[in-house]
Amino acid sequence: MLLSTPPLSLSTLTASKYSGLLIALVVTVLALRRRWNPKRLSVLPKHQERVVILGATSGIGRVLAQQYAKRGARVCVVGRRAELLAEVKTECCILRDPSIERSSILPASHVAQNDAIFAVQADLTAPEDAIHTVGLLRSVWGGVDTVIICAGVSSLRPLLEVAGVERPGEDVSLTGIRRIREVSDAAMKGNFTGPLLSAVSLIPLLESTSRSPSVALISSAAAIIPAPTRSLYCASKAASLILFQSLAIEHPKIKFTNVMPATVEGDFRASAVDAGPVRESSPNKHGLKRDYVAQRIIKALDYGEKEVFLPWWFVRLGHLFYWIVPSVIEVFSRKKYNFTPAT
Ligand SMILES: NC(=O)c1ccc[n+]([C@@H]2O[C@H](COP(=O)([O-])OP(=O)(O)OC[C@H]3O[C@@H](n4cnc5c(N)ncnc54)[C@H](OP(=O)(O)O)[C@@H]3O)[C@@H](O)[C@H]2O)c1
Repeated sequence: MLLSTPPLSLSTLTASKYSGLLIALVVTVLALRRRWNPKRLSVLPKHQERVVILGATSGIGRVLAQQYAKRGARVCVVGRRAELLAEVKTECCILRDPSIERSSILPASHVAQNDAIFAVQADLTAPEDAIHTVGLLRSVWGGVDTVIICAGVSSLRPLLEVAGVERPGEDVSLTGIRRIREVSDAAMKGNFTGPLLSAVSLIPLLESTSRSPSVALISSAAAIIPAPTRSLYCASKAASLILFQSLAIEHPKIKFTNVMPATVEGDFRASAVDAGPVRESSPNKHGLKRDYVAQRIIKALDYGEKEVFLPWWFVRLGHLFYWIVPSVIEVFSRKKYNFTPAT
């Protein structure tokens, strides 16, 4: 028996035409909204901005500190390694004021009221250090405008390998389970507890002292696209990402920016909590350039962008495709991390 389809009526065609136009209009407005946003700099000129960079002794945080100092911002650099803090402080002082005599720059441990550049030796995961940092920001500058959380730790090994399981089907030992708990605690401490304590201690200061408060979390593509040998890194970065996305809803006065870069050049793998081998070929050379990443983060903060994917096409599309065709992303991911499942 043949079934005849009813002809499309004029009103159905018109409705579908208008709904298409409406969708196109909404997409265009959303895309252009970013351009129309009043620039933060008109409220908070560059040289008045007070920026604290948590995790500024190396990598992306160090380059961010240099770039902010160069454009005249006041910069507070935070990290645990004293000798590197001293180096970053000196670099920032010179970039901010090229006429300054190197010999006139005081040691990193010296902090005085109204210092344009100062350093705080602190561990983000220690509550006392969080209170100390807030106290210094209040006493030196009277508050803060921009908080950038760069600190993080990596992990590099397949999870069961960390637990000491060498062959598929082999039972895990008590020592293996204990080791997993230890490594997982270290990953969560570095990637979740540090950002958590930073948020809890600095949000009240931002809200009470800034005309245009902003927070940037340097998250990772790994927070939204799963990867082999990075399970603990992915999970701990995802935890802080959703924490900050939720905080953005709880604190509408503050602009939250979450940055999700793919691999960035540098020595991040040295921070691995599981001390595993690096499997990718030359990861330190082939990543995104730190200068570019730092510039993009500063631009995102200037425009109040919510999410930044670096590179956009790779991370945004990778994320999207994972939900449409996960097996394709899984194959790609195994290849990228040079991982072959044990059989
Ligand atoms: N590199 C990449 O391929 C990549 C890709 C995507 C996302 N990311 C993310 O980008 C961020 C920065 O990475 P990076 O490549 O710049 O790494 P990095 O060179 O290892 O820098 C990490 C910084 O964080 C500080 N830090 C770590 N734990 C800390 C703690 N508990 N308290 C205070 N400071 C702490 C370190 O200083 P001290 O040791 O002196 O404390 C260092 O200054 C990380 O959150 C990472 O997840 C990196």
